Amino acid sequence: MDSIIVTGGGALEGQIPIAGAKNAALTLMPATLLSEEPLTLTNMPRLSDIRTMTALLSSLGTEVSALSQGQVVAMSSHTISNHTADYDIVRKMRASNLVLGPMLAREHHAVVSLPGGCAIGARPMDIHTIGLEALGAEIELKDGYLHAVARGGLKGAVHELRFPSVGATENLVMAATLAKGTTVLKNAAREPEIVDLVSCLKKMGAQIAGEGTSTIEIQGVDRLHGATHPVVTDRIELGTYMLAPVIAGGEVECLGGRISLIEAFCEKLDAAGVSVTETDAGIKVARKNGRVSAVDVTTEVFPGFPTDLQAQMMALMCTADGVSVLEEKIFENRFMHTPELVRMGANIDVQGGTATVTGVDRLKGAPVMATDLRASVSLILAGLAAEGQTTVNRVYHLDRGYEKIEDKLGNVGAKIERVRGI
Ligand code: EPZ
Repeated sequence: MDSIIVTGGGALEGQIPIAGAKNAALTLMPATLLSEEPLTLTNMPRLSDIRTMTALLSSLGTEVSALSQGQVVAMSSHTISNHTADYDIVRKMRASNLVLGPMLAREHHAVVSLPGGCAIGARPMDIHTIGLEALGAEIELKDGYLHAVARGGLKGAVHELRFPSVGATENLVMAATLAKGTTVLKNAAREPEIVDLVSCLKKMGAQIAGEGTSTIEIQGVDRLHGATHPVVTDRIELGTYMLAPVIAGGEVECLGGRISLIEAFCEKLDAAGVSVTETDAGIKVARKNGRVSAVDVTTEVFPGFPTDLQAQMMALMCTADGVSVLEEKIFENRFMHTPELVRMGANIDVQGGTATVTGVDRLKGAPVMATDLRASVSLILAGLAAEGQTTVNRVYHLDRGYEKIEDKLGNVGAKIERVRGI
């Protein structure tokens, strides 16, 4: 298993290009199942999760070809030859469950393995299944698999989600595009990745309104056609790299970034005394003076502060001036990075879903263990500010969501290297 070694100290200078969004690509790819005609996605991130989704779709009969070094993915689901999403693939990446809605909508039956829990929480699928049942599906759990049938096809309905789940909203929106009649989803998720999905579905001929709000209305159609669609910028990768010059010092421009994608996060940076400026090409970030100020953060659904930036923000607060309180409201177990940051000399007290961070002058490098995608990158960021070397082990977690991190940070002056197979 690879590791990454970061040697702290040294300001960062330069530009970092931000890739297409992992969490948009992972819902856009299953949309191919809704049509017999080709769907081509451009500005694709090159990540292990994309390869996993490619393997899953290929196992269902989709022809997938990666072009332009993987930045373009052309898919054709002319025929769906297999209707079962296998546990061996689904357990690797829970976003595999996003094939359920589209397959059920087009083929009227689907079998999808339940993903099971993950490091950050139990993550059940009840909001997905209750929503699909509201559209007329019959769903039974057998041997760890959801067996779903829609006799005569799905039917439009007015349905309120008990919580604005991102994945459930994506599954239901895709399912409703081919349902008979009109579907109204209330308390739907509003994340930019959902707006991007809907923008693509509209190019395929779907009739949808209200994306980005809590109420989405979908007028079902008989069939969808092919399209080409550019994946939206990755706001989580963007936020992560915006923190690098703040933690290490210096000034970096994140190419392709827009403040509108992560307003709540930018407001917190501003409150912490960080300079954030939108440029024609992206967002320029610099630490104004010595230490940033401690700020409190509560994770929320969009447009609130994203849970996927909580760990990275904690890495910054470790050396902030003062005490900050971070509340994790979306996942029940998303502080796995704290014991590792404490190994680097951070002062953090966790009580349930609340972490109290007392800023210290400087962190110290240490060997640490990655536990999930965002936790691992928070350790890389902490290493940029630490005294000496930090070795982050199990970086396969990181490769799921960050394309060539050692190149992107190395190009702006970070001392960082990947060590293969320690
Ligand atoms: C998406 O996960 C993202 N993943 C996550 O990013 C992100 O953290 C999350 O949304 C929240 O923003 C992808 O888009 C592939 P949810 P998702 O359904 O769809 C509970 C990353 O780091 N819930 O909005 O799985 C659930 O347990 C990843 O890139 C139910 O109880 O998130 C959680 O506590 C991590 N029942 C909360 O809702 C359900 O049926 C939010 O989950 C569904 C969800």
